[in-house]
Amino acid sequence: MNWINYFRKWATKYEKDVEGYGYDPEKLIKPFLKLIGMRKTALDVGCGTGKGLEVISKFCENLSGIEPVEKMAIQSKQKGFQILQMKARNIGKLKMKFDFISFFASIDYVSIKQVVKGCKQILNEGGLIFLTMEPKSEKRILDSFLKNDFFIIKKEIIHAYRGQEYVCVLIK
Ligand SMILES: C[S@@+](CC[C@H](N)C(=O)[O-])C[C@H]1O[C@@H](n2cnc3c(N)ncnc32)[C@H](O)[C@@H]1O
Repeated sequence: MNWINYFRKWATKYEKDVEGYGYDPEKLIKPFLKLIGMRKTALDVGCGTGKGLEVISKFCENLSGIEPVEKMAIQSKQKGFQILQMKARNIGKLKMKFDFISFFASIDYVSIKQVVKGCKQILNEGGLIFLTMEPKSEKRILDSFLKNDFFIIKKEIIHAYRGQEYVCVLIK
């Protein structure tokens, strides 16, 4: 499956559709907010129309997103967010470092080995990563992080919307 093409086709209807079935990133991150605290710099990977960025803006002032699908990126920019149009596999090339990196419903679609290496390069000391993923991807994704010396701080399975649970994980 070419996921970028899939989201390209869905881009204009995405936000209305997911809100229609009750998808809300705030619900997924809520049990982790005390542990996350306030953050200075944040990057939301695969930010789509900016739904995750809206949540992050409550605990971090200096935030940006990356999104490969132009029509999604434009919707995030229209909400006032700073967005780079690029794929997750290239995050290691970013010149900035971050105190918080999130993947709201996006890590299932990325090249995991390159992304984990990239996270290592752009995460500040003391930085945190928040992931939400489908249960079927949990082993493949978490094993990649754990092999690269990341640690799980907290993990919860949360009902995301009708018929879909997400494994939500905070990593350092
Ligand atoms: C299910 S949507 C989630 C969007 C947003 N994070 C949210 O919570 O509403 C998945 C997002 O991942 C993006 N995506 C897909 N493949 C990607 C890749 N290789 N690198 C970065 N983002 C990607 C899609 O374009 C889409 O915006």
